[in-house]
Amino acid sequence: KIPHVSLCVSCPDFEIAAKAVLPRKSYIYASTSANAGLSLKGNLEDWGRINFRPRVMRNVGDVDTRRAIFGHSSPYPFYISPMGTLGAIHPGAEPELAKGVVRKGCHYVVSTASTKSSRDIMQAFVDEQKKIKDASPTRLFFQYYMPVDREKALELMRVVKKLGYKGLWITVDTPVLGKRTADRVLQAEEALAVGLEEEGTSEWEAGSENPIAPQMGGRPQRGQLSPHTTWADLEWIRKEWGGPIVLKGIQCADDARLALEYGCDGILLSNHGGRQLHTAPSALMTLLEIRTYCPEVLGKLEIFLDGGLRDGSDVLKALCLGATAVGVGRPFMYALAAYGAQGVERCVDVLAEELATGMRLLGVTSLNQVRPDMVNAQRLLNE
Ligand code: FNR
Repeated sequence: KIPHVSLCVSCPDFEIAAKAVLPRKSYIYASTSANAGLSLKGNLEDWGRINFRPRVMRNVGDVDTRRAIFGHSSPYPFYISPMGTLGAIHPGAEPELAKGVVRKGCHYVVSTASTKSSRDIMQAFVDEQKKIKDASPTRLFFQYYMPVDREKALELMRVVKKLGYKGLWITVDTPVLGKRTADRVLQAEEALAVGLEEEGTSEWEAGSENPIAPQMGGRPQRGQLSPHTTWADLEWIRKEWGGPIVLKGIQCADDARLALEYGCDGILLSNHGGRQLHTAPSALMTLLEIRTYCPEVLGKLEIFLDGGLRDGSDVLKALCLGATAVGVGRPFMYALAAYGAQGVERCVDVLAEELATGMRLLGVTSLNQVRPDMVNAQRLLNE
């Protein structure tokens, strides 16, 4: 028995509810991080290590939280991060998430490694839009794990473009899968339970986002992810795709500069929710590095961040420092697990309300007014 959805008043409440309903295996899939977990810890903690510099007496009666991603307006400056194999979390999988997304007008980046096909997810999305009068014109974008085979890579791009996905988020932080520690423990336990040797018997596949449900369709199979991708590949990708391209998983200023040089439209500062390189910087640290070493990219690319955002005030800090919009992952996964589409809607409301209140208390009424001097990052920079 879990609390009524209305009792989820902050992001961490969804995790508590999800943990209560999910099989242990599925909860581990969602929550696991790399190695000793320090990347995830940094993601969660760094937002709390910078402060606001609030201004008062500024007539903050009405606030406007709208933001656009590549010209596609949203009522919110946050979107739902791509997460693979949602069928391990909720029977409705990605189409169920898409319903919540449409009802709230929140953008959603669909994972290559989804349980359902990109066509089924788009169909669910469009069907739900038809049901809602005056629905906000929310969009689906596509997260692209580059297949090794060039023909397959081109085919996937053509399919999602034709289906109407509006931008390609190319994940570049996963040439191989990071060491997901909790998964490893689980695999070892399972191997022991069936009396197999501990070594060499795992079902786990390198290159799979989710080792838990090998039967799920649509996710990359062993060897499908390409460790051979280089910057030079961007040329044919850009030519074929012809729409906005975001590199997901930029983790230092030098690569941010390269993304600009290679003609990308956006970068997503991310360490994959702390699931890839152990002690990779949080997106916030990377943003501060970019502000110091190549601030020119901030005006020229759309800048996205994800990792550890658990409060609307975290979103506001990212925007003050120059982010176009931010991605939120696990809170939506947990909300989906516990409450389906209704949980997704609730999670959007929770973040949106915290954001609007944060804006008023900071002394701004529109996201056009936020500036870097509205936060103090000295403490984080000095450490
Ligand atoms: C992910 N992430 C991810 N990223 C990606 O590019 N493709 C994918 O298929 C997945 N799958 C995935 C599954 C699960 C269970 C998690 C938790 C994460 C990473 C995701 O897009 C995003 O970078 C992080 O989740 C953001 O961090 P938070 O908000 O979860 O802390």
